[in-house]
Amino acid sequence: GRVAVVMGGQSAEREVSLNSGRGVLDALRASGVDAHAIDGIPALLDAVRAGHFARVFNILHGAGGENGELQGALQSLGIPYTGSGVLGSALSLDKVRAKQVWIALGLPTPKFKALPRGADVHAAAREIGFPLIVKPAWEGSSVGVTRVFDEKDLDEAVALARRYPGDLLMETLIEGDASEGGEYTVGILGREVLPTIKIVPNAAYYDYNAKYVAEDTQYLIPGLSGTAEDDMRALALRAFDALDCAGWGRVDVMRDRHGKNWLLEVNTAPGMTSHSLVPKAAAAAGLNYQDLCWRILETSMR
Ligand code: DAL
Ligand code: MG
Repeated sequence: GRVAVVMGGQSAEREVSLNSGRGVLDALRASGVDAHAIDGIPALLDAVRAGHFARVFNILHGAGGENGELQGALQSLGIPYTGSGVLGSALSLDKVRAKQVWIALGLPTPKFKALPRGADVHAAAREIGFPLIVKPAWEGSSVGVTRVFDEKDLDEAVALARRYPGDLLMETLIEGDASEGGEYTVGILGREVLPTIKIVPNAAYYDYNAKYVAEDTQYLIPGLSGTAEDDMRALALRAFDALDCAGWGRVDVMRDRHGKNWLLEVNTAPGMTSHSLVPKAAAAAGLNYQDLCWRILETSMR
C-alpha cells in the first residue's frame, strides 16, 4: 500500500525534518515503495481518514511527531507507523521525565533540576554547580541550549531556553578531555545497536550550526573499542527499553574524563539528513541509506 512520509510540521525543528523527510522519501522510492510526502499532522490525518495511506513513516522532529500525539492519533485510526509508540515517544521528548525514569532504574544521567517558569534559577544553579547546561525540556537539535560556565551568564541562557514551551532543564555539564570522554551517540535499529559515534565538533560544542551547517565536525565510528564500546552500546539499549521505546531511535550519551557514561536523552525520530548520525552509524555497520530507510519502514510492521 501507499506510505505517507510525514515531515515538516510546526516544531522548531521543522527545517531539519524537511531535510530528513526528503532523504527518506527519495530512498523509499528508490526501493520501489509508493511513498508520498505529507507536511504535518493535520494534513496527514486528513489523508489517512480519506483512506489514502496504508502506513506512515514518521520523520517529524520535536513536539507533535516525537511526543506521542501523532502516535496516539494513528493508533486510534488503526494505521501502522514507524518507531516508538505513545508512551516511549512522550517520555523521550520530555528530557526531564526521561531522566526521572532512568534515575528510578539506577541508570546514570547528569544531576539536574527541572525549573518551571518563575523558579529561582540562581539558587538552582548554585545547587548544581558550574559548569552547567541549560536546555528547554522539550526541544531537539540543541535549539535553545546554552553551556554556562559562570553565574553572570545564567540569565541570558535562561531567557533563551524560556522562549520554548515546557520546563527548563538545568543539568551538570559533563565534559571529556583530550584523552578520554566527550559527546557520543548510539543508534538503535530494531533490536540491533549500531556502533557508537564519537562526535568531535570543531566548534566549542555540537550546536545547531555544527549539526547541520558546518562541514568540519569529525565523527569517529566506532567511538570506542573493546569493552568500553560494548558497555556504552548496552547502556544505550537499556535506556531505550526503560522508556518503552521501540523500532528505532538514537541515544545521546556524554562520557566524562574518567570514562563514566551519562545518559542525556533519546531521540525517537532522529535526524536522517545528509549530516545526520544514524545514517553514519548504519553505514559503518554495512547498511547504506536506502537500506536503512527500508529497515526503519519495516519497524512499522508490528
Ligand atoms: N532532534 C534531531 C533531529 C536529532 O536528534 O537528530
Ligand atoms: Mg534530541
